[in-house]
Formats: sequence, structure tokens, C-alpha cells
Amino acid sequence: MYYPTEAAMKSAHVAGMAAYEKLCAEAESDYEGYWARLARELVSWKTPFTKVLNEENAPFFKWFEDGTLNVSYNCLDRNVEAGLGDKTAIIFEADDGQVTRVSYSELLSRTCQLANALKARGVKKGDRVVIYMSMSVEGVAAMQACARIGATHSVVFGGFSAQSLRDRVQDAGAVMIITADEQLRGGKQLPLKAIVDEALEGGSCPTCKDVIVYKRTGGNIAWVEGRDVWLHDALAGQATTCEPEWVGAEHPLFLLYTSGSTGKPKGVQHSTGGYLLHAALTTKWTFDLKPDDVFWCTADIGWVTGHTYISYGPLALGGTEIVFEGVPTYPDAARFWKTIEKHKVTIFYTAPTAIRSLIKAAESNEAVHPKQSDLSSLRILGSVGEPINPAAWEWYHQHVGGGRCPIVDTFWQTETGGHMITPLPGATPLVPGSCTLPFPGITAAIVDELGNDVPNGQGGILVVKKPWPSMIRTIYGDPERFKKSYYPSELKGYYLAGDGAIRDADTGYFTITGRIDDVLNVSGHRMGTMEIESALVSCTELVAEAAVVGRPDDTTGEAICAFVVLKRPRPSGDEAKAIAKTLRDWVAKEIGPIAKPKDIRFGDNLPKTRSGKIMRRLLRSVAKGEAVTQDTSTLENPAILEQLGQAY
Ligand code: PRX
Repeated sequence: MYYPTEAAMKSAHVAGMAAYEKLCAEAESDYEGYWARLARELVSWKTPFTKVLNEENAPFFKWFEDGTLNVSYNCLDRNVEAGLGDKTAIIFEADDGQVTRVSYSELLSRTCQLANALKARGVKKGDRVVIYMSMSVEGVAAMQACARIGATHSVVFGGFSAQSLRDRVQDAGAVMIITADEQLRGGKQLPLKAIVDEALEGGSCPTCKDVIVYKRTGGNIAWVEGRDVWLHDALAGQATTCEPEWVGAEHPLFLLYTSGSTGKPKGVQHSTGGYLLHAALTTKWTFDLKPDDVFWCTADIGWVTGHTYISYGPLALGGTEIVFEGVPTYPDAARFWKTIEKHKVTIFYTAPTAIRSLIKAAESNEAVHPKQSDLSSLRILGSVGEPINPAAWEWYHQHVGGGRCPIVDTFWQTETGGHMITPLPGATPLVPGSCTLPFPGITAAIVDELGNDVPNGQGGILVVKKPWPSMIRTIYGDPERFKKSYYPSELKGYYLAGDGAIRDADTGYFTITGRIDDVLNVSGHRMGTMEIESALVSCTELVAEAAVVGRPDDTTGEAICAFVVLKRPRPSGDEAKAIAKTLRDWVAKEIGPIAKPKDIRFGDNLPKTRSGKIMRRLLRSVAKGEAVTQDTSTLENPAILEQLGQAY
């Protein structure tokens, strides 16, 4: 175990295990009172709430429902009013290393101008606005501007394809897209606006009437008169003040699409009040954010981590944070370490995949090893998105954290809005590979299929017993799917996370053992196997049938492995390689490059039982390259196992 230092235990917001336990006890003895106290302390309300939790229409829970507030007021105005107007809110580190600092006053003015520009183009409270942007101050301001006028944003990660973007715009019924001409990543100019054009082609998204385009690179783009407007033109002449739209606490702040176990991504809907509370609270306690910190979360604003720990949490607390445009390997694999040194970052939050790939790079090239950079400013490290293996944890701790920085291994999900199970840096003793204990007030537990508690030391299903403020409110447009996915009737009204977990017999510490559904986690990116299967079979010219499973991968955590039956004879050699490439490109076009299968295996057919069910467990063994030990006697055609042994 690694214990917090004496100094950390004294100065942290949650100082020592006794303080942690006191908070847990407070939540246990008066659950609503605990959250109400924190909601009054951390959030500024226009109209104070009088009701805390409404469970009448469970599982559609409501928190602080009669309170009104505005998220952008909480993140910007109130900091300016508190005298932080000149404080740096965002240090923008561009792909090429150029730095732009934006103060709270400037971010407020830009947000207000954009809010006014949105209003001028008819965007109203409750409208959905899609943001398809790279990492930029403008991206954060766009989210804040939507929040300011009560529009619900839906950020789509800039790596998603035109088809994925179109699906999301249609599902959300978005009235506008805010985008950039191109994005810069690793010295390359990659299209954004061209993908928006393709997504909107042929009137496929009739609700979407406007496209606002931030000029990032000045690259060549097509223009649709009457629909497209440059951001700088839309902002010209707009006032730098804008009265916030005071919305009810349950007003939807955002939708964020994520993968589930069907082929169709779901629009996870988050609230305003409860979400903001947890974003601010977890930033304060898990990262122990203080006024002088320089906070850096390396996630993209297209993922939930970027929402909570870039666009909202640190700003709600008046912090200073880095917004990083580039990639960890450009100009070389020391970029993270050099950037930490350059900006004297104190809190650094990244994903295990990034750490693992930077370990590899550092091991083969001394020049990019973290020891070449002065990382003495760091005081807290974080990990998110997937399990961190103990070896990567130890390296991160020793070589990045200099052996002195606690690592907060934060378990949470798009649906949970913020951290659920995590160490607190000035309190929790750490065990590599464990996300340790629930955040105070979060009733995480491990149960069996019927919702009965299982003893520590025995694995089971991860659930959350009581509703919490930042939880998902519904799946946009599909409340039935929300109930079925997260509140299945056999689980006694508990929230089903979709992960398996185990608690240590002695410490009660949690370790996440992986998804229990058909969701894969590749480089911390969540993807549904069914989604990739539908993309493959939509290549109707080539593909007759496809099955997708995950297999362990040293760097990306999991890798996508696709088993494919073609409409033509099973290929081999160069022909198989060429078809595999065509299929990868196809999936990239349908979903995005992150969904490209790493392995493609061809068979005359897929292993099925005599009743016609694809034997997925068997496919997982084949994908891992393991000897097949399962009973194959029910297999229709045992000979195909050998065919599937070859990956392209
Ligand atoms: O399987 C868990 C894994 O990521 C899933 C959630 O993915 P997403 O909604 O994309 O959100 C990722 C960022 C919060 C979870 O169901 N996961 C996330 N954090 C951890 C993790 N697995 C193990 N340890 C973690 N710290």
C-alpha cells in the first residue's frame, strides 16, 4: 500500500481517512441532507431548491428540482464576481506548441458573445446544438454558450465519421452544428467541416439549419450559402454580456452519445444542477484542486471526461487548466512531459493507454523518457477510462510522479457524470490496480444476478444502490431503453453499471474486472460489438456475416477482433490482406477510425451451435490465440476453427 504523505493528509480538502469516513457517515445517516448541504456550498442558485430528491417516478429521479441556476454563471460570472477576472482560466497549448492564455473575464465575454450569436440565429432554450470541434478554447466556449442560453449541447468527438455524426444529429434533432474548418493533430490538418457537409448532405438532417465554422487552419472548404457562417462573422457586433437563462435543476445540460449493447448508440441525458454539483465536488475532492494549481486533463471534450473535467468541474471551482490540442506523440513521445514542465502542471489526469504507449516509447528511446523533463511541479496524478494494470501504475508513480504523487484511479462512466469509485489523494492508501473505495455518498456495491449482496472476496455485478445527483436522467427519446439498460427489474431498483467487480476480502477495495455486456473498451474508448458488426454487414457487397469480440492488448487494453464470412470464397494471403484493409476502411467510414478492427479473420462460416447461436465465448478464445477448451460437439462445422486461426 502507498500512504498519503503527512503534509497531504493535513492540507487536502478531504484530509485523512477519518475525514473520508466522516463524510461517508454523514451521507449514510442523512442521505438527502448530505447532498443538499454540498449543493448549497458548491453551487450558486438563482432560486434555492426546497426539495432534494424526488423518487416518485423512479428510476426517473429528480434532484433539487425546484431550484434554478445557470451552469455558465457558475463557471464564469461568479468567478469574475469573486475577483478572479484576471486569473487564467485556460492555458491553450496548440498542436504546434503555441500558447494562448484566456482569463476568466475573457472567457466570459467570448461565451456571452457566442451565446448572443446563437440567439441571433434563433437557438432557444431546450434546442439541441451539436458541437463537432477539436480541442480549443472555442469548443469550451461553445459548450458554455449553450449552457448560458439553456440550449442542450451534444458534443460529437472529432474522430467520428460523417455517418456517425449524421445519426447523432438526427437522433438529437439538432438545430445547429458548431464546427471548425479543420483540426490540427500531430502536425496534420484533418477535415471537420467537410465531414459536417457530408453528414448533412441531401437534406438528411432537416432540423439542422445552421452551421457555425471556427476558422482554425484556413484550409480549403466548401461553403453552403445561407446555412454556413464563420464564427468570427457570427460574433461580430455581438455584445459581450448576455443575461443567463435561469433553468430548472433538471433542465438537460447535455446529451452525450455512447455505445451500449445494441447497434445504436444511446444519447445519455444529463441534468444541470445535480451534474454541476458532482463535477465541482469531485474536482475538489478527487483532485484536491486549490487556487494555485495548474490542472491538466488530457481527454478530448468529445468524451465525458472532457465535459466534466475540462469544460465544467475545474471552471466551476475557478481553477486554471490546460486545454491541449495535440497528440501525446507529437513532435515526439515526450510531449506530455515537456508540457508538464513548460506550464508547471500540478495535477495530471490521463488514460492508461496513453501511459502504456509512452512507457513503450520511453523504453526504446531515452530521449523521450520522463526523467528528461522537470516534473517536480506535479503533486497528483490521475487515471481514467479503463483498468490500469499494476505495472503501468508503478511506472507512472515512479517515473512521472517521482514516487511522491498519489495516483487517483477513478472509476466512472458517461452515465455517472463524475467519479464513482476513487481514492482521495490526501486520505486513501493506494493499491496499484484498484480504484479503492466509493466517493463519499456513492452507494456502490457488488451483487449477484438477483441483486443480493455478495461477500468481499467474491466477484459479482457492480451496482449503485441509491440514486445520486449526477446520474443519467434518461436515454434521449428512449426512456424504455433507459429503464431496461440501467434498472433491470431483477436488480431491486439498483443502478446497473455494466461492469463486473470484486472487493478485496481484507480492505474492501474495489477492482473492476471488465464489462459484463457486449461493450468493448479500446484505448479507453467505449464501443459496442454490435455497432461494429452492423457496420461490417452494411458492406453488403462483400460481407455475408460478421461477429466481433474483444481480446486483451498490451497497449490499448482491449483490441477489436472481427470474424467475417464473405459473399465470395474465403480469401487467403495477399487477397485476404487487401480485403481486410477494405473492411477496416469501411468501418472507419461508417463509425470512425477508432472502431477499426485490429484483427480480421475469415471463415467459410461462423462457429454456431446446432440451434444457430454464434458461439462467442469460443470466438473470444480464438481471438486470444488460446487453445479451444470449450465443448465443440454442438458446433455445426468444427473445421472452421482452423480457418479462423489466421488473423489479417
Ligand atoms: O468499463 C468501465 C471503464 O469504462 C467504462 C465507461 O466508459 P465511458 O462511459 O466511455 O467513460 C469513460 C470515462 C469515464 C466503464 O463501464 N472504466 C472507466 N474508468 C475505469 C474503467 N475501468 C476500470 N478502471 C477505471 N478507472
